[in-house]
Order: sequence, then structure tokens, then C-alpha cells
Amino acid sequence: MDTQLTHLSRFGGCGAKIGPGDLSNILCGLDIPENPNVIAGLRGFEDAGVYLLRDDLAIVQTVDFFTPVVNDPYSFGQIAAANALSDIYAMGATPITALNIVCFSPTKFDVALLREILKGGIDKMREAGASLLGGHTVDDEETKYGLSVTGLVDPGHLVRNEGARPGDLLILTKPLGTGMIISGIRANRVSRATEERLTAVMSTLNRHASEAMLSAHAHAATDVTGFGLAGHLKEMIKESLGADIYIKELPHFHETKDLYLEGFLPRAFYKNRDFYAPFVETEMSGFLTDLVFDPQSSGGLLIALASDDLAAFSREASNLSVDYWVIGCFTKEAKGKIRLV
Ligand code: CO
Ligand code: CO
Repeated sequence: MDTQLTHLSRFGGCGAKIGPGDLSNILCGLDIPENPNVIAGLRGFEDAGVYLLRDDLAIVQTVDFFTPVVNDPYSFGQIAAANALSDIYAMGATPITALNIVCFSPTKFDVALLREILKGGIDKMREAGASLLGGHTVDDEETKYGLSVTGLVDPGHLVRNEGARPGDLLILTKPLGTGMIISGIRANRVSRATEERLTAVMSTLNRHASEAMLSAHAHAATDVTGFGLAGHLKEMIKESLGADIYIKELPHFHETKDLYLEGFLPRAFYKNRDFYAPFVETEMSGFLTDLVFDPQSSGGLLIALASDDLAAFSREASNLSVDYWVIGCFTKEAKGKIRLV
């Protein structure tokens, strides 16, 4: 039996959803029924779907599952759960229930590994205060784990990916580089210290970051996952705003640059770069400019905040021990473009 979980994966593993790549426009042309209670759905690339129950209450639903990103099964379970919860937090909602989604081969792997994965997920759900109601398992040679999560939100406090205003600051709450590091882990090229740091960051819930953004009246937010910083920022600006990124301010994990220079780039990196490079303006090239295309697993929140609200955000972030970096701002010039400055 194989014991290195990440060996199973073919590539990627960074929160696939509709975007660049083979499955980009899979829903195009399909007739999806409309309902006035659906206040966030398939349009607009919101992080999660939102359905209005009453004027002051909506349910928020999302699903995310992926192949192992680290070798320790318990840590993988924690990371997959933190990643699945992240879209709920990105919208300013509170998770309440979850269902496991499992693909696992009991003939290829010891079921004890699966128990550890599930234990990691359960522990994160407990930390989030959400109840695990059940789930479904499919016999599959390639291990995958994640959850479908339901949350609640007052629609008046819903934080969408649209809503940033020119002059708003752009805040990021976790370092970049998870895609490159995970590629390095799959080839046994990453130090134990970096793998531990990556594991700690990826398994950290975005709950406190979400609380900090709510307390500071953030105008918009999303979480940085498979499409990388460039892709998710493009969802925030669409064609109506521009964004400047101060690339020297971009936080990244130790060893990311070495792995980049050695060519440890996940397939999704190239897809993201092909798809989003036309929207990115820069005079530079190399590691820092390419970092914006690195697909993230369980990445941080990307938050649009009025500069006047930074002090309030900063106070709450430090009370809650949330790391954050001011990595850029929104502009009214260069609409639809991300300028690396
Ligand atoms: Co998201
Ligand atoms: Co997602």
C-alpha cells in the first residue's frame, strides 16, 4: 500500500470551480431556472450561493473538495475542511452544517488513513462551530476529500466579491505560494519546516479574518483559491474598476522562490497565466509577477476596505491574531486591469 498521500494526485488540487481551463464554460447554454430568492448564484462568480429565507435571513451554500495537498492525513483533513469553509467566511456568513464528500480506495490505502482525514475535518468543523450531518463516499483510486457547507447570513451584511470602490485598500490575509510549494512536496523537495508552516497556514480558518473584515465594514471580499491572486482579484474588479498590486509587498512562503526557479509549477499555474495575463499590466517579469498566477489551496481572504477603516480592521485583526498585508488598492483608472507596480 502507498503511504504518501500526495503521490496519488495527478496534478493541481487547488479548489476547482468554473474558470480558466478545460471546464471553463461548462454551464454555458444550459437553461438554469431563475428564482427571485436566489440573491447570489451562478452569475458573478460569487464564492457561494445565497438563498433568501426571510428579509433578515439567508442560507449560504458551497462545496469544495480536492486531492491531498500534504502527506499527513489528519492535516489534509483539516486543510480540506478549512478550504471548504472559506467561501462561507468570504461572504461574511457563519457556517452551521456540513456534509462530507469522500473519494477513497480501501484496497489501495489503509482505511486508517481515511479515519485520520475525517478526524481532521471533524476537528475543524468543531472549531468552526458547524455540525457535521453526514456525507457520501465513492470508491476511487484517487483520494479526494472535502465538504459541502451551509451557512447563515443577514442579507444586509452579506459581503460580495463586487462592491469595492476606487481608493479602497486591498488586503490579503494569508501568504501566497501554496501551489508551488505543494508541487515541491509531491516531489519531496520541500523542507519539513516549510511543509509545517504551509500546513499551519492552510489549516487556519478564515473565520477571524472574516470577523475582522465585518467589524471594519469591508466593501467586498473573496478568498484566494484555484485562480490565484490575479484570477480572484479580476472577479472583484470585473470591467468596472482597476487594481494596483504593490508586488514587493506580496507575502509568500519561505522556499517559494527557489521552487519557482527550479520549475515546480502546478498545471493550474500555466492555465491561470494563460487566462489572466491579458488583464495584468506590468513592466517586470519573474518570480513576483508570476506569483499572482499561483493557484492557492485554502488561501486567505482578499478584502476591499476604505482606507479610513484600516485602523479598525487592524485593531480587530491584532485582537484575533489575524495576519494581514496591504498589497494594493482599487483605482478608477485602467478599468478591468490589474497593474503590478
Ligand atoms: Co471562493
Ligand atoms: Co470554493
